[in-house]
Amino acid sequence: MSIGQTTNLLDYTQRNIGVIEHYIEALAVFGQQPEGGLIRPVFSAPWLLAYRQLENWFKEVGLSVRADAIGNLWGRAEGSEGGPVVVSGSHLDTVKGGGKYDGALGIIAALSAIRFLRENYGEPRRPLEVVALCEEEGSRFSNTFLGSRSIIGELHQADLEETRDPQGVSVLEAARECGFDPSNLASARRDDLKVFLELHIEQGRLLDDAGLQVGFVEAITGLQHLRVTFEGRADHAGTTPIALRSDALVSASTAIVELNQLARSLGHPAVATVGWLEVSPGARNIVPAKVEMSIDLRHSNNAIKLQMAEKIRQICLEAGSAQGVKVNIEQETDHPPAPMSPEITAMLTESAAKLGITGMPMISGAGHDSQIMVEKVPTAMLFVPSRNGSSHSSAEFTPLDQIVPGIAVLAETMYKLAY
Ligand code: HGY
Ligand code: MN
Ligand code: MN
Repeated sequence: MSIGQTTNLLDYTQRNIGVIEHYIEALAVFGQQPEGGLIRPVFSAPWLLAYRQLENWFKEVGLSVRADAIGNLWGRAEGSEGGPVVVSGSHLDTVKGGGKYDGALGIIAALSAIRFLRENYGEPRRPLEVVALCEEEGSRFSNTFLGSRSIIGELHQADLEETRDPQGVSVLEAARECGFDPSNLASARRDDLKVFLELHIEQGRLLDDAGLQVGFVEAITGLQHLRVTFEGRADHAGTTPIALRSDALVSASTAIVELNQLARSLGHPAVATVGWLEVSPGARNIVPAKVEMSIDLRHSNNAIKLQMAEKIRQICLEAGSAQGVKVNIEQETDHPPAPMSPEITAMLTESAAKLGITGMPMISGAGHDSQIMVEKVPTAMLFVPSRNGSSHSSAEFTPLDQIVPGIAVLAETMYKLAY
């Protein structure tokens, strides 16, 4: 296909489905577990191998490649006229036992779109960049969105030293071990970005159920992460009468059931989840002295989200006092709902219509880097379907013929913005 011929980007993407499949399958090797699923936390060995693989792919298609201070990987196609940059990408890390599409597909889609655009139309007017964001999931450090927050200048140097993983390794040390130089985090800040576009799997089942090809994200839900500690008293499981116990696990269990009932009573899109819980001392014949657990609560209406959070705090405190158990509640993150940029989202909708691709507007129940980027850069998100809505598990799956339309819409929109 010679440069300059009008190309239908859907046909061209379809003809290059093999390229996309190769990128997906080859990247999924890094962190693949024998029992299924991926484990690729930021700055881990599999993460660094995946990073190096992307570096090679970015270079192979002729992009100039750069690592920033926190380990975001940038691939750039210079624009003939220079100026603000059109960038697309997503995160390279995964959750524990995650799938091969969450995050990775957004990087692969951006790389493929830039590759297809340059193969058909040559160099863009404006610079085009793909970014592999270093971390989004919080699967190693509780301080999340490390990559996107560095880009908008919201992450601070002190955060890198103070944020440590369960083994006590700081973000700073872990980034250094990978060969990055996080001593000057401010240099990762970008003030030259025109638009950020993120293609991502829906991680829900609305598109799959509706038989639609893409989703136009109007807003990303608000979320709050709490770490709750219940401190009771260790006692002999045989000699301590039930009425005399301060059983931390009974308090935690009461709280878990009640916060679940609260979310049910509020109805969709309210959700509340206890994802991990640790009991100590953790012996069958000792009354549990201490429980630590996470709470992830979300709602697309910020006022309701905050009311939920307040109610859940009360639930935990009351569950503790009923057992004579002390309760400590630490708020780890709080993000209000993030509306996407309407004008950029409209461009995605127009691109889909032009290519004859079906879609619908929707709210994201999952958090994404776009909710951070939109604070400083016009941002829009595009979803492709998730089979049965499965995600954050080895069941995560999107067939290639449901990935192609999303990449074509992304490419068409990048064409409008950069050529
Ligand atoms: O938790 C989330 O919604 C995202 O997958 N990190
Ligand atoms: Mn995720
Ligand atoms: Mn994700």
